[in-house]
Amino acid sequence: KILILDFGSQLTQLIARRVREMHVYCEVHPCDVSDDWLRAQLQEGRLKGVILSGSHASTTLESTDRAPQAVFTLGVPVLGICYGMQTMAAQLGGAVQGGEQREFGYAELRAHGHTALLKDIADFTTEQGHGMLKVWMSHGDKVTELPPGFKLMASTPSCAIAGMADEARHFYGVQFHPEVTHTAQGRALLQRFVLGICGARADWVMQDHVAEAVARIRAQVGDQQVLLGLSGGVDSSVAAALIHKAIGEQLTCVFVDHGLLRLHEGDMVMAMFAEKLQVKVVRVNAGPLFLRELAGISEPEAKRKTIGRLFIDVFKAEAEKLKAQSAREIAFLAQGTIYPDVIESGASKNAKKAVTIKSHHNVGGLPEQLGLELLEPLRDLFKDEVRELGIALGLPPEMVYRHPFPGPGLGVRILGEIKPEYPDLLRRADAIFIEELRNGIDAASGKSWYELTSQAFAVFLPVKSVGVMGDGRTYDYVVALRAVQTSDFMTADWAELPYSLLKRVSSRIINEVRGINRVTYDVSSKPPATIEWE
Ligand code: XMP
Repeated sequence: KILILDFGSQLTQLIARRVREMHVYCEVHPCDVSDDWLRAQLQEGRLKGVILSGSHASTTLESTDRAPQAVFTLGVPVLGICYGMQTMAAQLGGAVQGGEQREFGYAELRAHGHTALLKDIADFTTEQGHGMLKVWMSHGDKVTELPPGFKLMASTPSCAIAGMADEARHFYGVQFHPEVTHTAQGRALLQRFVLGICGARADWVMQDHVAEAVARIRAQVGDQQVLLGLSGGVDSSVAAALIHKAIGEQLTCVFVDHGLLRLHEGDMVMAMFAEKLQVKVVRVNAGPLFLRELAGISEPEAKRKTIGRLFIDVFKAEAEKLKAQSAREIAFLAQGTIYPDVIESGASKNAKKAVTIKSHHNVGGLPEQLGLELLEPLRDLFKDEVRELGIALGLPPEMVYRHPFPGPGLGVRILGEIKPEYPDLLRRADAIFIEELRNGIDAASGKSWYELTSQAFAVFLPVKSVGVMGDGRTYDYVVALRAVQTSDFMTADWAELPYSLLKRVSSRIINEVRGINRVTYDVSSKPPATIEWE
């Protein structure tokens, strides 16, 4: 296995992910593990190499973290990335200097000599025959003196020692970040280290992850009971399937149906989990309650807050009831938190000044209120890994590869006040749009337009416009279609759907959904528009 010691960078999990992509087993541990613990890892016999992560801290301060000194005496290869390289230099007798200015962004890196790590890896070669790489930098401090035994491996115009190597001991340090996709050769470099220099075996597959996660859940939970809020979304579904595989009957899911779900969504969740997988699921039909409480509220933030509050109230009431009824104590609240959520909530701690664009559905505080311990088996995984895990657990691809759906559901896709007759109209229009996206195949890629878009849905506009149908005049509502392409949902482009597809969707919606006589297509990108309309 590869051991990653975490000095607190947000990119640490990305390193782990890159190692997993090579089908190599890895573990992330905090950088302050003890020397004894490290030596024990080696004795287990599986430890092939260590990667030291980056950090926001400065190595030039006495108080900042150092790698356990044993890292350098274990006899396994070590790769230090950014701060990891700096601490390696500092701990092995080199020198690091605090930088007056940070270097952030692309740099052109020249590889010196033929180190095992960089040999023949280059984006281009200069006329003098130097291998050059385009790399991503983000640092303030830099190594100014090589430790004894090290040679210069790479440099950039502004960073003389951007890479160093002690090839006898197999210690390597890089100032840039090979784990980010901006460093084009980053993957090749990490593969070279993990598979080549460390000689780690590429035999780890998602099924191994399932087995491990199952064992971990069993160990954590013991014979106690677990409660999980199932929403039908990818993350909570995968968490439910995984935990159910681990502890079966000890898991109870609470599915709060707020009446603002997509067409047949509630029934599909029940068919999948309660019937097919035989998971204990309590469905709470809270639609009428939500509609009652939302009456008269039209301001988007107020709607979101109301939905969030009700959701928690309903979930809590159900949880208390189950706690009182359960023969054995319910001790855990499981959540489908995934790694990007962890980053987001961590980042929000020092982002108090940031304006709230939209308050997201937040169930923080719930475990404490219910006196439950958190169980978050997906915490270290990225979205696509969660999907892969879902497939490995036997969940259907349609469920696992579904577009994201916001917690407040159709509540933020019906503009203004939610009148009782609106959700159903929107649901039917939305289902037609999605069906046509799934059926529409793009000839160039062979993929469906559902796959080619990241998120697509219909929005209900509570305004009426005049139309004509047969011989009669109509005066009905408008639906807007929204389809975007994005990789991170922070920015997004509206999708250039074929006119023929839009035509089919529009005519089907107007013909099949009585009450809607006009369909428009949203051609706004994010920013300045957001993906959802509210
Ligand atoms: P916006 O509209 O901010 O959306 O561009 C970005 C992504 O976040 C989703 N979204 C939410 N997800 N609870 C959620 O779980 C929410 O309250 C919420 N609001 C927006 C949105 O669907 C898009 O994928």
